[in-house]
Amino acid sequence: MKFFIDTAEIAEIRELAETGLVDGITTNPSLIKQSGRDFIEVVTEICALIPGPVSAEVIATDTAGMLTEGRRLAGIASNITVKLPITWDGLKACRALTDEGIATNLTLCFSANQALLAAKAGASFVSPFIGRLDDLQVDGMELIHNIRTIYDNYGFETEILAASIRSAAHVEACALAGADVATIPPKVLKSLSQHMLTDKGLASFLADWDATGQKI
Ligand code: G3P
Repeated sequence: MKFFIDTAEIAEIRELAETGLVDGITTNPSLIKQSGRDFIEVVTEICALIPGPVSAEVIATDTAGMLTEGRRLAGIASNITVKLPITWDGLKACRALTDEGIATNLTLCFSANQALLAAKAGASFVSPFIGRLDDLQVDGMELIHNIRTIYDNYGFETEILAASIRSAAHVEACALAGADVATIPPKVLKSLSQHMLTDKGLASFLADWDATGQKI
């Protein structure tokens, strides 16, 4: 499973990229607002830092506007993925951009039927939002399983990019469900390495090593 980072914070991206664990980045208008930065400027910097796909979202809600913005965003760098909402207009824009060879990520996916439409429109990625379904007491992971089954039934190549991930448990469940990508907030990614027994075991090894009086 590929790891994308769900952030527009350059410092966080730079730090995490050093681990070699970062396969791509996703941004959205809320993350851009949080960064306090100029959208085009920050996305340009991210593309220069990370060679993998970098999702940048359109703001227009009509197909023509999405195409204008999508083409402009795609012109920033060759690793831009144009993020479009899964609406009728978004699906039409997806087909047109796909036919032009531009990568697309259909976002705000909350049903398997929406994901089916995204695949048929030629999307490179579809982004089902797990956490926001969980917030409504609906099992977000069931959506990932259902999309996986549908895509495998018909050999669709659209990648399932699990989004709205809120916990380490979500990441593990996505990997078990066969999501192609999980886009993970930096804090959650860092939490994946944590285990109480790792900390305890390390403390005990270090104490025993100290007692030997040796040096490496
Ligand atoms: O990639 C979309 C994601 O950022 C949404 O996450 O936590 O706002 O539901 P959240």
